[in-house]
Amino acid sequence: MKGVILAGGSGTRLRPLTKVTNKHLLPVYSKPMIYYPIQTLLNAGVKKILIVTGNESAGDFMKLLGSGKELGAEFTYKLQDGSFGIAHALSLAEDFVGKEKFIVVLGDNVIEDNISEAAKDFESNNYDGLIFLKSVHDPERFGVVELSSDKITGIEEKPKQPKTNFAVTGVYMYSPSIFDIIRKLKPSARGELEITDVNNALIERNKLTHKMLSGFWSDAGTFPSLFRASEFAKENEEPSSNSKEH
Ligand code: DAU
Repeated sequence: MKGVILAGGSGTRLRPLTKVTNKHLLPVYSKPMIYYPIQTLLNAGVKKILIVTGNESAGDFMKLLGSGKELGAEFTYKLQDGSFGIAHALSLAEDFVGKEKFIVVLGDNVIEDNISEAAKDFESNNYDGLIFLKSVHDPERFGVVELSSDKITGIEEKPKQPKTNFAVTGVYMYSPSIFDIIRKLKPSARGELEITDVNNALIERNKLTHKMLSGFWSDAGTFPSLFRASEFAKENEEPSSNSKEH
Protein backbone atom coordinates (compact mmCIF):
# COMPACT_ATOMS: atom_id res chain seq x y z
CA MET A 1 0.00 0.00 0.00
CA LYS A 2 1.01 3.63 -0.47
CA GLY A 3 0.82 6.24 2.28
CA VAL A 4 -0.23 9.88 2.43
CA ILE A 5 0.78 12.34 5.13
CA LEU A 6 -1.23 15.56 5.34
CA ALA A 7 0.98 18.36 6.59
CA GLY A 8 -0.73 21.49 5.29
CA GLY A 9 -2.96 23.77 7.36
CA SER A 10 -2.00 26.87 9.28
CA GLY A 11 -1.25 25.61 12.80
CA THR A 12 -3.02 28.61 14.37
CA ARG A 13 -3.45 26.85 17.72
CA LEU A 14 0.33 26.77 18.13
CA ARG A 15 1.01 30.47 17.46
CA PRO A 16 3.54 32.07 17.92
CA LEU A 17 5.53 28.83 17.37
CA THR A 18 4.01 28.51 13.91
CA LYS A 19 4.42 32.15 12.90
CA VAL A 20 7.64 31.50 10.97
CA THR A 21 7.66 27.74 10.55
CA ASN A 22 5.26 24.94 9.75
CA LYS A 23 3.68 23.04 12.66
CA HIS A 24 4.96 19.68 11.41
CA LEU A 25 8.58 20.83 11.54
CA LEU A 26 8.38 21.72 15.24
CA PRO A 27 10.15 19.37 17.67
CA VAL A 28 8.33 16.55 19.39
CA TYR A 29 11.07 15.83 21.91
CA SER A 30 14.08 14.86 19.75
CA LYS A 31 12.57 14.80 16.26
CA PRO A 32 10.55 17.02 13.96
CA MET A 33 6.83 16.24 14.32
CA ILE A 34 6.52 14.81 10.80
CA TYR A 35 8.99 12.01 11.61
CA TYR A 36 6.32 10.33 13.75
CA PRO A 37 3.67 9.82 11.02
CA ILE A 38 6.48 8.79 8.67
CA GLN A 39 7.56 6.15 11.21
CA THR A 40 3.95 4.95 11.58
CA LEU A 41 3.87 4.27 7.84
CA LEU A 42 7.34 2.72 7.70
CA ASN A 43 6.41 0.40 10.61
CA ALA A 44 3.45 -0.76 8.52
CA GLY A 45 5.80 -1.54 5.62
CA VAL A 46 4.73 1.52 3.61
CA LYS A 47 7.66 3.20 1.87
CA LYS A 48 6.03 5.15 -0.97
CA ILE A 49 4.74 8.22 0.79
CA LEU A 50 3.10 11.41 -0.51
CA ILE A 51 3.59 14.48 1.67
CA VAL A 52 1.00 17.22 1.17
CA THR A 53 2.12 20.56 2.55
CA GLY A 54 1.46 24.28 2.22
CA ASN A 55 3.33 26.49 -0.24
CA GLU A 56 5.29 28.57 2.28
CA SER A 57 7.19 25.69 3.89
CA ALA A 58 7.54 23.28 0.99
CA GLY A 59 11.25 24.01 0.62
CA ASP A 60 11.88 23.34 4.32
CA PHE A 61 10.19 19.93 4.09
CA MET A 62 12.35 19.00 1.12
CA LYS A 63 15.48 20.22 2.88
CA LEU A 64 14.62 18.11 5.91
CA LEU A 65 13.34 14.96 4.22
CA GLY A 66 14.84 14.96 0.73
CA SER A 67 14.07 11.94 -1.41
CA GLY A 68 13.48 9.79 1.67
CA LYS A 69 16.59 7.67 1.14
CA GLU A 70 18.03 8.44 4.61
CA LEU A 71 14.83 7.25 6.30
CA GLY A 72 14.30 4.26 4.02
CA ALA A 73 11.32 5.88 2.32
CA GLU A 74 10.45 7.27 -1.11
CA PHE A 75 8.83 10.68 -0.85
CA THR A 76 6.64 12.53 -3.33
CA TYR A 77 5.55 16.10 -2.55
CA LYS A 78 2.38 17.97 -3.40
CA LEU A 79 1.37 21.52 -2.48
CA GLN A 80 -1.94 22.65 -1.02
CA ASP A 81 -2.55 26.32 -1.88
CA GLY A 82 -4.33 27.20 1.37
CA SER A 83 -5.93 25.74 4.52
CA PHE A 84 -8.98 24.38 2.73
CA GLY A 85 -9.41 21.35 4.98
CA ILE A 86 -8.20 17.80 5.47
CA ALA A 87 -10.46 16.37 2.75
CA HIS A 88 -9.20 19.03 0.33
CA ALA A 89 -5.57 18.14 1.14
CA LEU A 90 -6.46 14.49 0.60
CA SER A 91 -8.01 15.19 -2.81
CA LEU A 92 -4.50 16.11 -4.01
CA ALA A 93 -3.44 12.47 -3.52
CA GLU A 94 -5.73 11.06 -6.24
CA ASP A 95 -3.10 10.64 -8.97
CA PHE A 96 -0.48 9.39 -6.51
CA VAL A 97 -2.58 6.53 -5.08
CA GLY A 98 -3.96 5.31 -8.43
CA LYS A 99 -6.39 2.40 -8.17
CA GLU A 100 -5.25 0.82 -4.90
CA LYS A 101 -6.25 1.17 -1.26
CA PHE A 102 -4.00 3.48 0.77
CA ILE A 103 -3.24 4.78 4.27
CA VAL A 104 -3.56 8.40 5.41
CA VAL A 105 -1.91 9.82 8.53
CA LEU A 106 -2.39 13.41 9.71
CA GLY A 107 0.99 15.08 10.05
CA ASP A 108 0.42 15.99 13.71
CA ASN A 109 -0.61 12.53 14.94
CA VAL A 110 1.70 10.46 17.13
CA ILE A 111 0.65 6.84 17.64
CA GLU A 112 2.21 3.85 19.35
CA ASP A 113 0.29 1.01 17.66
CA ASN A 114 1.64 -0.89 14.70
CA ILE A 115 -1.08 -0.79 12.04
CA SER A 116 0.37 -3.37 9.64
CA GLU A 117 -2.16 -6.14 10.51
CA ALA A 118 -5.04 -3.69 10.11
CA ALA A 119 -3.63 -2.67 6.74
CA LYS A 120 -3.45 -6.30 5.56
CA ASP A 121 -7.07 -6.92 6.64
CA PHE A 122 -8.26 -3.71 4.99
CA GLU A 123 -6.51 -4.47 1.70
CA SER A 124 -8.50 -7.66 1.23
CA ASN A 125 -11.93 -6.65 2.62
CA ASN A 126 -14.85 -4.88 0.91
CA TYR A 127 -14.82 -1.69 2.95
CA ASP A 128 -13.92 1.68 1.44
CA GLY A 129 -12.76 3.17 4.72
CA LEU A 130 -11.27 2.21 8.07
CA ILE A 131 -10.93 4.63 10.98
CA PHE A 132 -9.07 4.13 14.25
CA LEU A 133 -10.76 5.18 17.48
CA LYS A 134 -9.38 6.01 20.89
CA SER A 135 -11.21 6.67 24.15
CA VAL A 136 -10.29 10.18 25.36
CA HIS A 137 -11.15 12.56 28.22
CA ASP A 138 -11.70 15.57 25.94
CA PRO A 139 -13.77 14.24 22.99
CA GLU A 140 -15.13 17.71 22.15
CA ARG A 141 -11.73 18.49 20.54
CA PHE A 142 -12.15 15.78 17.90
CA GLY A 143 -14.40 13.95 15.49
CA VAL A 144 -16.54 11.78 17.81
CA VAL A 145 -18.42 8.62 16.84
CA GLU A 146 -21.95 7.62 17.74
CA LEU A 147 -22.17 3.89 18.31
CA SER A 148 -25.03 1.43 18.32
CA SER A 149 -23.73 -1.90 19.68
CA ASP A 150 -20.34 -1.96 17.94
CA LYS A 151 -21.56 -0.22 14.80
CA ILE A 152 -20.76 3.42 14.01
CA THR A 153 -23.98 5.23 13.14
CA GLY A 154 -22.48 8.70 12.64
CA ILE A 155 -19.58 11.02 13.39
CA GLU A 156 -19.83 14.56 14.73
CA GLU A 157 -16.94 17.02 14.28
CA LYS A 158 -16.03 18.73 17.56
CA PRO A 159 -19.48 18.31 19.18
CA LYS A 160 -20.27 20.51 22.20
CA GLN A 161 -22.03 17.53 23.79
CA PRO A 162 -20.24 14.40 22.58
CA LYS A 163 -22.38 11.24 22.47
CA THR A 164 -19.41 8.97 23.34
CA ASN A 165 -15.79 9.33 24.46
CA PHE A 166 -14.46 7.72 21.29
CA ALA A 167 -12.42 10.15 19.21
CA VAL A 168 -11.62 9.54 15.55
CA THR A 169 -7.83 9.56 15.36
CA GLY A 170 -5.87 10.93 12.43
CA VAL A 171 -5.06 7.54 10.91
CA TYR A 172 -7.33 6.38 8.09
CA MET A 173 -7.37 3.73 5.39
CA TYR A 174 -9.34 4.33 2.20
CA SER A 175 -10.12 3.03 -1.25
CA PRO A 176 -9.88 5.50 -4.16
CA SER A 177 -13.72 5.68 -4.21
CA ILE A 178 -13.47 8.48 -1.63
CA PHE A 179 -12.20 10.91 -4.28
CA ASP A 180 -15.68 10.96 -5.85
CA ILE A 181 -17.13 11.68 -2.40
CA ILE A 182 -14.69 14.58 -1.89
CA ARG A 183 -15.63 16.09 -5.27
CA LYS A 184 -19.24 16.40 -4.04
CA LEU A 185 -18.41 17.90 -0.61
CA LYS A 186 -19.42 21.43 0.40
CA PRO A 187 -17.25 23.49 2.80
CA SER A 188 -18.31 23.33 6.46
CA ALA A 189 -19.16 26.31 8.68
CA ARG A 190 -15.42 26.81 9.27
CA GLY A 191 -14.89 26.96 5.50
CA GLU A 192 -13.10 23.60 5.16
CA LEU A 193 -13.75 20.32 3.35
CA GLU A 194 -14.09 18.00 6.33
CA ILE A 195 -12.76 14.45 6.59
CA THR A 196 -15.69 13.76 8.93
CA ASP A 197 -18.08 14.41 6.00
CA VAL A 198 -16.15 11.85 3.92
CA ASN A 199 -16.46 9.28 6.72
CA ASN A 200 -20.17 10.01 7.22
CA ALA A 201 -20.76 9.44 3.48
CA LEU A 202 -19.05 6.03 3.87
CA ILE A 203 -21.22 5.21 6.91
CA GLU A 204 -24.36 5.92 4.84
CA ARG A 205 -23.14 3.37 2.30
CA ASN A 206 -22.21 0.80 4.97
CA LYS A 207 -18.62 1.00 3.75
CA LEU A 208 -16.83 2.25 6.86
CA THR A 209 -15.28 -0.04 9.45
CA HIS A 210 -13.24 0.75 12.54
CA LYS A 211 -10.64 -0.51 14.98
CA MET A 212 -9.53 0.69 18.40
CA LEU A 213 -5.99 1.88 19.01
CA SER A 214 -4.66 0.13 22.10
CA GLY A 215 -1.47 2.16 22.68
CA PHE A 216 -0.67 5.83 23.10
CA TRP A 217 -2.25 8.35 20.72
CA SER A 218 -2.12 12.10 20.65
CA ASP A 219 -2.29 14.85 18.12
CA ALA A 220 0.34 17.54 18.69
CA GLY A 221 -1.61 20.53 17.46
CA THR A 222 -2.19 22.35 20.76
CA PHE A 223 0.27 23.23 23.53
CA PRO A 224 -0.98 20.55 25.97
CA SER A 225 -1.12 17.84 23.30
CA LEU A 226 2.30 18.81 21.90
CA PHE A 227 3.66 18.50 25.44
CA ARG A 228 1.99 15.07 25.93
CA ALA A 229 3.34 13.82 22.60
CA SER A 230 6.84 15.02 23.58
CA GLU A 231 6.62 13.23 26.94
CA PHE A 232 5.61 10.02 25.18
CA ALA A 233 8.44 10.40 22.66
CA LYS A 234 10.94 10.92 25.48
CA GLU A 235 9.77 7.80 27.34
CA ASN A 236 9.99 5.76 24.15
CA GLU A 237 13.26 7.08 22.83
CA GLU A 238 15.43 4.18 21.76
CA PRO A 239 18.55 3.74 23.89
CA SER A 240 20.69 3.91 20.74
CA SER A 241 19.63 7.51 20.05
CA ASN A 242 22.22 10.24 20.42
CA SER A 243 20.41 12.23 23.11
CA LYS A 244 22.41 13.04 26.23
CA GLU A 245 20.87 13.40 29.69
CA HIS A 246 21.68 16.59 31.53
O1 DAU B 1 -6.29 14.43 15.19
C1 DAU B 1 -7.55 13.87 14.89
C2 DAU B 1 -8.56 14.91 14.47
O2 DAU B 1 -8.03 15.62 13.33
C3 DAU B 1 -9.92 14.27 14.14
O3 DAU B 1 -10.53 13.76 15.32
C4 DAU B 1 -10.88 15.27 13.49
O4 DAU B 1 -12.04 14.62 13.08
C5 DAU B 1 -10.21 15.93 12.29
O5 DAU B 1 -11.05 16.93 11.73
C6 DAU B 1 -8.90 16.58 12.72
O6 DAU B 1 -9.19 17.64 13.61
P1 DAU B 1 -8.24 18.90 13.86
O7 DAU B 1 -9.06 20.10 14.13
O8 DAU B 1 -7.27 18.52 14.92
O9 DAU B 1 -7.49 19.07 12.48
P2 DAU B 1 -6.41 20.15 12.09
O10 DAU B 1 -7.07 21.32 11.46
O11 DAU B 1 -5.50 20.41 13.25
O12 DAU B 1 -5.58 19.37 10.99
C7 DAU B 1 -4.92 18.16 11.30
C8 DAU B 1 -3.85 17.92 10.27
O13 DAU B 1 -4.40 17.87 8.95
C9 DAU B 1 -2.80 19.01 10.24
O14 DAU B 1 -1.75 18.69 11.14
C10 DAU B 1 -2.37 19.05 8.79
C11 DAU B 1 -3.55 18.49 8.01
N1 DAU B 1 -4.26 19.55 7.25
C12 DAU B 1 -5.23 20.29 7.85
C13 DAU B 1 -5.90 21.30 7.15
C14 DAU B 1 -6.99 22.12 7.80
C15 DAU B 1 -3.90 19.78 5.92
O15 DAU B 1 -2.99 19.10 5.39
N2 DAU B 1 -4.56 20.77 5.23
C16 DAU B 1 -5.55 21.54 5.78
O16 DAU B 1 -6.12 22.42 5.08
